[in-house]
Amino acid sequence: MVTIREEKLVDFAAREAVLDEAYGAVRFEKASERLREGRVPAAGLSLVAVDRGQLVGTVQLWQVTAGPGRPALLLGPLAVHPKHRNRGIGSALMRRAIARAHLAGHNAILLVGDAAYYSRFGFSAATTGALWMPGPCQRDRLLALELRPEALAGARGMIGATGRLAPKPDLNLLIAANGGTQRANARKLVRHAA
Ligand SMILES: CC(C)(COP(=O)(O)OP(=O)(O)OC[C@H]1O[C@@H](n2cnc3c(N)ncnc32)[C@H](O)[C@@H]1OP(=O)(O)O)[C@@H](O)C(=O)NCCC(=O)NCCS
Repeated sequence: MVTIREEKLVDFAAREAVLDEAYGAVRFEKASERLREGRVPAAGLSLVAVDRGQLVGTVQLWQVTAGPGRPALLLGPLAVHPKHRNRGIGSALMRRAIARAHLAGHNAILLVGDAAYYSRFGFSAATTGALWMPGPCQRDRLLALELRPEALAGARGMIGATGRLAPKPDLNLLIAANGGTQRANARKLVRHAA
């Protein structure tokens, strides 16, 4: 049975593996990534799908502004492991993410993706004609869903990142950890040689 739940710290590697499988390295070049890099996702809006202990799907939402002074969310990436597609997992992730965003009081969700897929959840390009991504993006792939009536009425301008900045790793801790690894490797070599 597939369970949808909030992502935990331990899910990081499995989530990245699903994203690598779905999108490859090109995902880091997308305009959406400019709105995600160095930020943490919106609270409670990193979800994973788990099937018999295995992470098989992921979706995350990020805080942005849809033009000046208009808070919204950016959805993505959404991905389901190729072996688990067409089982309704992508839809379950989308529906849960939308419901949670609504419940948390967010106004609207933006994303860059195929209208042929996302229209079933209510997304369209009807309100995004005067919005711009911070990088190349096909206009008909910039989609939105209003969670409150008229939330994006008259929205215009650049979409900007507003999410909380991700904490920077502590340099001293990194050096200590690296030193620890080197000492552990040296101990292994000595044991092997003895
Ligand atoms: C898009 C994705 C998340 C869907 O996950 P999923 O768990 O297979 O989705 P669901 O089972 O809920 O829905 C499957 C349906 O979506 C359709 N679908 C999947 N990708 C689609 C797309 N890019 N455009 C139109 N329809 C699409 C399937 O044909 C299927 O249609 P059906 O219900 O008529 O049979 C998954 O295919 C994926 O991770 N793809 C890689 C990333 C990608 O290509 N994204 C494209 C959207 S930007």
